[in-house]
Amino acid sequence: MHVLITGGAGFIGSHLAERLIADGHRVTALDDLSTGSRDNLDAIIDHDQFKLVEGSVLDRDLVQQLVGECDTVFHLAAAVGVKLIMDEPSKSILTNVTGTENVLTAAIIGKTPTYIASTSEVYGKASKFPFCEDDDLTIGSTKNLRWSYACAKTLDEFLSLAYAREVDLPVVVLRFFNTTGPRQTGRYGMVLPNFVQNALAGKPLFVHGTGEQSRCFGHVFDVVEALMRLLKTPAARGEVYNIGTDQEVSIMALAQKVVAATGSNSEIKLVPYSSVYPEGFEDMQRRLPSVDKLQAAIDFRPMRTLDEIIADIIAEKRALMALAAGR
Ligand SMILES: NC(=O)c1ccc[n+]([C@@H]2O[C@H](COP(=O)([O-])OP(=O)(O)OC[C@H]3O[C@@H](n4cnc5c(N)ncnc54)[C@H](O)[C@@H]3O)[C@@H](O)[C@H]2O)c1
Repeated sequence: MHVLITGGAGFIGSHLAERLIADGHRVTALDDLSTGSRDNLDAIIDHDQFKLVEGSVLDRDLVQQLVGECDTVFHLAAAVGVKLIMDEPSKSILTNVTGTENVLTAAIIGKTPTYIASTSEVYGKASKFPFCEDDDLTIGSTKNLRWSYACAKTLDEFLSLAYAREVDLPVVVLRFFNTTGPRQTGRYGMVLPNFVQNALAGKPLFVHGTGEQSRCFGHVFDVVEALMRLLKTPAARGEVYNIGTDQEVSIMALAQKVVAATGSNSEIKLVPYSSVYPEGFEDMQRRLPSVDKLQAAIDFRPMRTLDEIIADIIAEKRALMALAAGR
């Protein structure tokens, strides 16, 4: 199978590309290298079944050409992370809406099976737990640009499901919850790589707000396994799936776990949201998925423990630090 991965040089995309190549598929990655990098593709960049196309999902003609050459598309390219979205809101909205429109309108030409990356952010301020795929979505005010990411991804979901209904496009919506693991960068505000980097450097770990807010962290290898299984599940088409784990941890407990696992002397410091984000910033207190629908569809539940995830990230960051020190 020839698979196009938009955002293929990114964190999730590069792991997915490696797995597809290992399983004997051909992969084309389309990436503008804005948050992704060529280094993520070190293991496959010279493989004869892999091709990296440096370009944008905003280039309609290029997207149409690449989608036309492939059997399946994973559309992962996006402006990602609340910090990046707050820093560059209009650019992020346009990337996340127009990029998806370009992919979907190209995919309907040949009814190419397409997997669209969405996010747990779409649940917004919903207060019924766990979050189920058919639940109502509760988004905050448009004055608070933080919600633009959730809204853009919600619109992507609507457009995907509209094409599924109107023209029978075989499309699957992937609502990713916090996915983490090796290669995730802390540069755009992703919490776990940030904590590990600071702990290894002996710097303070900054916990926003009270630290009581909780998240569920899934290992990228589990997420990739779920995607591979969805690829082989035609019944998933036209459906939305939560992709993640239901093991909850508070951000304060996460920081403590990282300090313990690294053996660091780093302090854990609470910082108010107002010193990190513009005034009026709202965080989600909990983000707990139901993964029952996913498990029923693919007979798999992402399960790697948080301790395993932290250990993998520590090993990766230590190796990178050793490499940098040896240069
Ligand atoms: N990692 C998570 O916890 C998480 C959670 C929810 C949703 N998601 C979604 O999963 C997808 C992948 O996220 P990730 O964590 O791998 O982030 P990432 O930033 O590593 O990957 C995104 C990739 O898209 C590329 N990109 C950005 N704009 C582009 C454009 N205009 N044209 C081509 N490429 C472009 C970036 O360079 C990067 O390689 C995204 O759609 C994101 O919204 C991720």
